[in-house]
Amino acid sequence: MRVFVTGSAGFIGYHVAEALLTEGHDVHGYDGLTDYYDVALKRARHDLLLRHDGFTCTEAMLEDAGALEAAVSAAAPEVIVHLAAQAGVRYSLENPRSYIDSNLVGTFGVIEAARRARVRHLLMASTSSVYGANAKMPFAETDKADTPLTIYAATKKATEAMGHAYAHLWDIPTTMFRFFTVYGPWGRPDMALFKFTRAILEDRPIDLYNRGEMMRDFTYVGDLVRAIRLLIDVPPVRPPDGQVPEGDSLSPVAPFRVVNIGAARPVRLLDFVAALEDALGRPARRNLMEMQPGDVPGTWADAALLERLIGPQSQTDLATGIDAFVRWYRDYHGDGAA
Ligand SMILES: NC(=O)c1ccc[n+]([C@@H]2O[C@H](COP(=O)([O-])OP(=O)(O)OC[C@H]3O[C@@H](n4cnc5c(N)ncnc54)[C@H](O)[C@@H]3O)[C@@H](O)[C@H]2O)c1
Repeated sequence: MRVFVTGSAGFIGYHVAEALLTEGHDVHGYDGLTDYYDVALKRARHDLLLRHDGFTCTEAMLEDAGALEAAVSAAAPEVIVHLAAQAGVRYSLENPRSYIDSNLVGTFGVIEAARRARVRHLLMASTSSVYGANAKMPFAETDKADTPLTIYAATKKATEAMGHAYAHLWDIPTTMFRFFTVYGPWGRPDMALFKFTRAILEDRPIDLYNRGEMMRDFTYVGDLVRAIRLLIDVPPVRPPDGQVPEGDSLSPVAPFRVVNIGAARPVRLLDFVAALEDALGRPARRNLMEMQPGDVPGTWADAALLERLIGPQSQTDLATGIDAFVRWYRDYHGDGAA
């Protein structure tokens, strides 16, 4: 398979590209190496991918329509996995415009390129944040998701709508993933596990919002990548009679589906911190904070549709997953402080 992966220097894109290359597929990565967080970490991920013969890449922004079109047309992919985005819930209060540029303008470039390349499957990242203020748990794809609480969530909801329109108009089989808090080796420095690990090793307190009374459906990156890999082989098909099976998010008028990828096993933040203390062999100092604007107290994926499509998902337990992260962190930064 020839696969075009955007965000290939990012946390998830790196792992997806690595898994595809290991299976023997050709991957063209596309990433603008934005300075939202440490560019050296992104470069290190790309350097590892470049060790594979099957990997080539373009380092450019999605908004550079000429560069994107040229890269897609040279790579002639059968599948596009679009993971590049301005991510992060909290940063979207500080710099909302970067979300408009990367997620709306950038994603439009990707779906337009997918149309020209006539790919057999376009898969794009959305987020559990689109469930916004929904109170009913677990979150199911067929629930309404009309109450985004941040510009991050709003742009991701908009990319789902853009993907649907292009799937309908141009018959592009399109799957949108809604990821739930992903963690693991090569993780993002702006996310809790990385920040907490760094703070504990440097003997600084960790900030626990809503006084730690949060619940997240932490999903191990290896399990998520396996699910993405299997979903590549399940492109949605436009239902000929407009009839959609119960519980399926398939569109009645387009080869388009939204799928949660989450462990479906929510964990209390305080238990997550305790597991990290065990892995590090050091106690954390807890700084109990108020709830942040735009944050939600809990996330929990309904994974029934995912499992209907790919069979039982792999489930790395929390202690094993956190241990794998800590081993990578110590190795990457040298033992001790960052
Ligand atoms: N990590 C999670 O827990 C999580 C949860 C929900 C959704 N997601 C989504 O999954 C996808 C991957 O997330 P991640 O955690 O790997 O994030 P990441 O920030 O590590 O990776 C994103 C990559 O995209 C690149 N990028 C950003 N804007 C770009 C632009 N305009 N042009 C070109 N490249 C650009 C960045 O340089 C980065 O390498 C994103 O779409 C994100 O919104 C992630």
